[in-house]
Amino acid sequence: MASRISQIAAHLNYPTGLLAGQVAIITGSGQGIGAETARLFANEGALVVISDIDGTKAASVADGINAAGGRALAVPGDMLDGGYIARLVEQAAAFGSGKIHIIVNNAGYTYDGVIHKMSDAQWDTIMDLHTKAPFRLVRAAAPYFRVKDGESRCIVNVSSTSGIHGNAGQANYAVAKAGVTGLTKTIAKEWGPAFGVRANTVAFGYILTRLTQAKEKGAFVTGPGGAKIALGIPQAQQETRDQHLDIPLRRPGTASEAASAVLAICSPLFSYVTGQTIMVTGGRNM
Ligand SMILES: NC(=O)c1ccc[n+]([C@@H]2O[C@H](COP(=O)([O-])OP(=O)(O)OC[C@H]3O[C@@H](n4cnc5c(N)ncnc54)[C@H](O)[C@@H]3O)[C@@H](O)[C@H]2O)c1
Repeated sequence: MASRISQIAAHLNYPTGLLAGQVAIITGSGQGIGAETARLFANEGALVVISDIDGTKAASVADGINAAGGRALAVPGDMLDGGYIARLVEQAAAFGSGKIHIIVNNAGYTYDGVIHKMSDAQWDTIMDLHTKAPFRLVRAAAPYFRVKDGESRCIVNVSSTSGIHGNAGQANYAVAKAGVTGLTKTIAKEWGPAFGVRANTVAFGYILTRLTQAKEKGAFVTGPGGAKIALGIPQAQQETRDQHLDIPLRRPGTASEAASAVLAICSPLFSYVTGQTIMVTGGRNM
């Protein structure tokens, strides 16, 4: 029966799946966890808006989804730019025929330093990227979430174990990632009662992406003012960490596993879950 419905839906070009017909903005979806989230969402019938500062990578993810029969639109830009956030919402709504159902606030990087050496620029960049940008995006998209059309609306803010437990060398990131849990709960309390909007935080542990690979590989992003920000974890720390003794599942997670948790949260299976912080850590820090 289900496959017959899927066949008819495909014939009519009508999306099926856990997120059928829903319009989702996923920030930082040019690679890593965001890109995997975009692919999983598209497989479940969502129309996905690929937002990333790296235009080439955003276009490549969108092209891949469209070539596979999904629907995606790349809208490249910098989440630190308020003008871009306004454009992102406008283009997403146009792509979604006037609707936006899901926001995944995922874009980000680390800009580490111990407290006594951390500059104001390091602090401000990380606060702006991980707390102010998600707030601005949610605020800009408010007209598409504060609606009563009987359709699902869901916001996921990406946090980290650093935001829950703190982490040496990451005062800025720990505070910013703790901050989004407050944003999440506030959205749940403001937009849940009248509009049924769900908002949840997902806190990742050690997920295999560019952010957790060896720093010596030389990955970097260009931050505000042209600052070259090196990404990754120094090899020496990596080697200790590679025993994974602090993780009950004894391994890091994949980007696909991280993205699957985001899909689960946005799906109807989580329809009565809001305001929560869901830990996706392989059990680390229980
Ligand atoms: N990888 C982990 O172990 C881990 C753990 C906890 C939390 N996180 C969080 O998960 C999220 C995704 O990280 P990832 O590991 O997939 O990293 P990633 O580097 O693979 O992907 C992050 C994406 O965000 C984009 N981005 C960065 N700054 C941007 C900006 N100013 N505007 C628009 N796009 C921007 C990058 O271009 C990149 O494509 C981040 O918020 C990160 O802090 C990751």
